[in-house]
This record gives sequence, C-alpha cells and structure tokens, in this order.
Amino acid sequence: MKNSYQLSNKNIVLGITGGIAAYKAADIVSKLKKEGAQIKVVMTKNALNFINPLTLETLSGNPVYYDTFEHRLNAWEIDHISLAKWADVMLIAPATANIISKARCGIADDLLSTTIMATTSKVIFAPAMNTNMLHNPIVQSNIAYLKDLGYEFISSESGILACGDFGDGKLAKVDDIVKYVKDFFLRTTDMSNMNVLVTAGPTREYIDPVRYISNPSSGKMGYSIAQVCAERGATVDLVSGPTHITPPTGVNLYRVETAREMYDKVMELFPRAQIVFKSAAVGDYGVENKAKHKLKKTKDTMELKLKKNPDILKELGNQKTNQILVGFAAETRDIEEYALKKLQEKNLDFIFVNDVSREDAGFERDTNAGILFTREGDRVELPVQTKRELACRIVDEVLKRI
Ligand code: CTP
Repeated sequence: MKNSYQLSNKNIVLGITGGIAAYKAADIVSKLKKEGAQIKVVMTKNALNFINPLTLETLSGNPVYYDTFEHRLNAWEIDHISLAKWADVMLIAPATANIISKARCGIADDLLSTTIMATTSKVIFAPAMNTNMLHNPIVQSNIAYLKDLGYEFISSESGILACGDFGDGKLAKVDDIVKYVKDFFLRTTDMSNMNVLVTAGPTREYIDPVRYISNPSSGKMGYSIAQVCAERGATVDLVSGPTHITPPTGVNLYRVETAREMYDKVMELFPRAQIVFKSAAVGDYGVENKAKHKLKKTKDTMELKLKKNPDILKELGNQKTNQILVGFAAETRDIEEYALKKLQEKNLDFIFVNDVSREDAGFERDTNAGILFTREGDRVELPVQTKRELACRIVDEVLKRI
C-alpha cells in the first residue's frame, strides 16, 4: 500500500495530558505506529488517571515515561534531554489548558513540560478542553503567543463535550491528527534544494549621524516567512533592516540599514535565489544633503532635500530570468488597484497587499490580513491570522503555483 510507511524512521514523542480525551491517545499511537513511526509516550501525572500506561506501552512497543526519575532510556542519560533529542516531532494530544499555559510561560516542572522546553524539534499541540476554557482569553492569548513562536496547533472540533456542554474543545479526529503529522513531515522537505531570498524590516535614511527617517515596520512578516521556508528545508538568505525581534534560526542573516545597503546586498544574493519575498518596507527617498556631523538647532526652520532611492524590487523585475518574485504592498486606500499596478509595473509573479490602516493588520501588529494576487489573475483573500500563520499560507500559495 502506497501510504503504509509514510512515517518510517520518524521518531515521535507523544505527550498525553490529563483530560478525558486521553483514552483516544491509544488510537493515535496505534495509527502512527501503523504508518511506521517509532513512538515514545510521556504522560503527566493527571493523564495516569485517565488511561493506563500499560496500554500505551503495549501499543508503542516502548516504555512509557511519566516521572523524571524513572524509566531511564540509559542510566547515564537524563530522560527529558534524551527524549527531547530523540524526537523528530513532539505531539501533545490531548493538550490541556494547563500544558499549553505552562509551555507559554516556560514552566518546566515535570517530565513532559521539561521535554517540551528542551526540544529543538517541532512541538504540535492538539488541544482538548471545555469550550469556556478554550475561549478563555488567557488560553487564547497563550495559544496565539505559542503560534507566533512556531509551535503548531491542530484545531479542536465542535461537538458535545464530556461535561455535557456543546461547543469547541473536542479533540480533533484521530485520523486528522495522524494526517497532520504526516503532512508536517512532507512540509519539512518540500523546499529542500531551494534558495530563497527574503527582505524584512524598515530601512533608515540618515539626516545626520544620529537622526534618521524610517517607518514602523517590525520585520515580523519577513522573519516569519524566512523561518517557514527554513523549516521546509530551503536555504534562506534574510536581508534585514534594523529590527528588535529575534532572528529565525537556520537562516543566513545579513543586517543592513539604508535602502542603498539593502539594494547592494540583495543584488549580490539575487543570482542564487529561486524565490524572492520582498517584504521589507524600503524607504522611497534618502536624504541628499546628509550632514557629516550632528546638526545643531541654530535655525527656526530647516529644509531637507530628498532624492529617490533605487527601487530594489523593480530592478529585480527587470533583471529576473526564471526567479519568482513576491512583492508586498502596504496601502491605506484603493489597495487592490495599487497592488495590481505594482504587480505589473515591477514585473512580479505575486503581490501580497494589506490595508495598514486596519487595527488588526500591518505594521507592528502580531496579526495581519490581506489579499494575494498572482500574475495569472488569481485573487486569494487571506483573513486575519498571526503573521506566522499568514507566512505559512503565503508560502503554500506560492509553492502550489510554481
Ligand atoms: N520596494 C523596493 N524598493 C523600494 C521601494 C519598494 O524593493 N525602493 C518593494 C517593497 O519591498 C515591496 C514593494 O516594493 O515589496 C512595494 O513597496 P511599496 O512601498 O508598497 O511601494 P512603492 O513601490 O514604494 O510605491 P508607493 O510608495 O508609491 O506606494
């Protein structure tokens, strides 16, 4: 059968927390195992009240871990570290509000939470809890925060819950959880052999050595795109203007300040790129009469002469052979019209446009929304979501079409 061993050679640590849906973990283990995965189960103390470790031990063919001082993999190794290193992915199913909230705060007070903190592999949560708990703003904010850091969530379903309430919070179907894990592994390699160039953040145009003109771009959108591409196996060159956010791991980071510096670095890297995501908010004008020394406030008025900076993306559009160019446009009105004009004038393959006058999208926000247009005339509406989720969607939409 074609799909039988899609997970062979994959090491999965399954974390089970204390909710009634814990009984479904047995089915998850069984189905992942049938796909060829190696599974090690870690249970919280509360999970032990809902399902017997013996069931999971038998199904997984491995000891079940539930206490930091028991069941050592090797006598000389520490469980949470060796499990964290062993895992290609950690799946927490069912994930209670408690484990999600502990992860958000970096609390590591039992084997499962320490393993989550110690792993560098992807952690996927499949939440299951009462509707009101799920919709509690604290839990929602913890989920959004973790998503932004790259933790993934398999949405729960709506239905009758164990407590008798009706609503969201039912553990996703076991088949959907297994499919998510399989898709995750496909995703980690679908960009290998690709070289991606991403620009992010604002540029600074200096008036004198200590003052500059800039814009409020945080760099989050571009950093999320760079991170998503790196996680999917791409070699990523990230050319970044000044930002205060943590750079993604596994990318080549080049820091620049001015539009001119960004132009030079992008032109140098362009020949090896197959896809360019040009999400930086480049200053359109630089200061022509930049002062060599700090200006003194001797005059009542002052004039600055600005001159146009090179349009980096337009230049890439002129030079491109078979590279895919993805432009970004931040607009405050007539967003579709301006976006389509830029798509055409800069010879782009895609343009993502957002309305930066909205409260929930654009500069300095954690969320964003907009429309992705393609050269072929497709129009993909992308609703409000975290910048990380949006980055996944944009990358998916681009890959689907090339
Ligand atoms: N861009 C660029 N170089 C510039 C200006 C913009 O590479 N000097 C790129 C941006 O990175 C973005 C796209 O062009 O991907 C659109 O940027 P935007 O500022 O919205 O548009 P402009 O072309 O500058 O047009 P305008 O400011 O008139 O809206």
